[in-house]
Amino acid sequence: MKKNKRAAIVGVSGYVPSYVLTNKELEQMVDTSDEWITSRTGIKERRILKGQGLGTSFMGINAVQSLLQKTETDPETIDLLICATITPDVITPATANIIAHAVGATNAFSYDLQAACSGFLYALDTAAQFISSGRAKKIIVVGADKMSSITNYSDRATCILFGDGAGAVLVTAYDADYDTDGGYGILDTICKTDGAGQDLLHQKAGGSKLPASHETIDAQQHYIYQDGQTVFKAAITAMSQVVLDIMAKNSLTAADLAYLVPHQANKRILQVVADRAGIPSEKVMLNINKFGNTTAATIPLCLWEYEKKLKQGDKLILTAFGGGFTWGAIYMAWAYDGA
Ligand code: UT7
Repeated sequence: MKKNKRAAIVGVSGYVPSYVLTNKELEQMVDTSDEWITSRTGIKERRILKGQGLGTSFMGINAVQSLLQKTETDPETIDLLICATITPDVITPATANIIAHAVGATNAFSYDLQAACSGFLYALDTAAQFISSGRAKKIIVVGADKMSSITNYSDRATCILFGDGAGAVLVTAYDADYDTDGGYGILDTICKTDGAGQDLLHQKAGGSKLPASHETIDAQQHYIYQDGQTVFKAAITAMSQVVLDIMAKNSLTAADLAYLVPHQANKRILQVVADRAGIPSEKVMLNINKFGNTTAATIPLCLWEYEKKLKQGDKLILTAFGGGFTWGAIYMAWAYDGA
């Protein structure tokens, strides 16, 4: 039988800034209310990175340093570090390079991956392929975004949604036999993209098509923009479908799953996706109430928060949807007892 390498998450950590932006404070900034935000999104507060000159790498470095510490990993043994982000410190070099340098991952090659809210999911899939092919043995995947750097705090439709944060996982190889059901780690992945959604959730200026200028700044084109209702419907349809597809492909019922780990975009979206898959709410990881939508960081921040509850062999489905459009699902058997 064919032996192959299967990738597994063997550690997770995170970092959120200390400043808490509450719904009450937002009430002072835009025409909104705690009641509206809570009932429409499930968000009560989000974290904001304050401090001159601090970018996404600051949070990524903190998350990776604590990950290395808790897993007792020598940074020089890391082969690859991937950072999923849409808010890199600078356009070039990659934020992953900055993080790898700061944590002493001197033998790693590193790069950023941009898939908006699906960034962590895509990056984890990429890491799994490097493990599977034998090209890398130890990989760190970071999902990090300083969404406050591209959020328009005079636009009530977007500023209530986003927060800053970073999550990181350590991925290594588990010897696995793909022909049997045993073993832990990443068991299946579906990734999807549809560029037809490109203008429905995007940042208009700052790239090569429309470089930064006085005009683009005056027109407020450096902020994140979304057609909320259309994205809301697309997110529900796409995530529900991909979750149902990966369950069917792997003959899973809701009873087989320990948790659904959804990108935290809106509590109402997560509830519908879970309902359509027959997954009860107590099996849905949720922290949008505390952190809002941190884009590439939501899924690793969920895993970090729920880690203590996870047991070896627990079956999880991760799912995300974001700008692009991008979306997907990963099915995995958790590799270690979190407690
Ligand atoms: O992470 C990537 C993917 N992103 C998402 O999945 C986000 C998807 N979209 C959403 O989560 C929701 O569409 C929003 C939370 C952004 C908006 O919620 P909604 O229920 O779709 O509201 P809406 O845009 O239909 O607006 C309803 C009303 C409007 O007023 P009128 O026209 O009915 O008078 C808005 O102007 O609510 C108003 N509104 C607000 N009112 C108070 C919009 N934002 C606010 C606000 N506070 N912050």
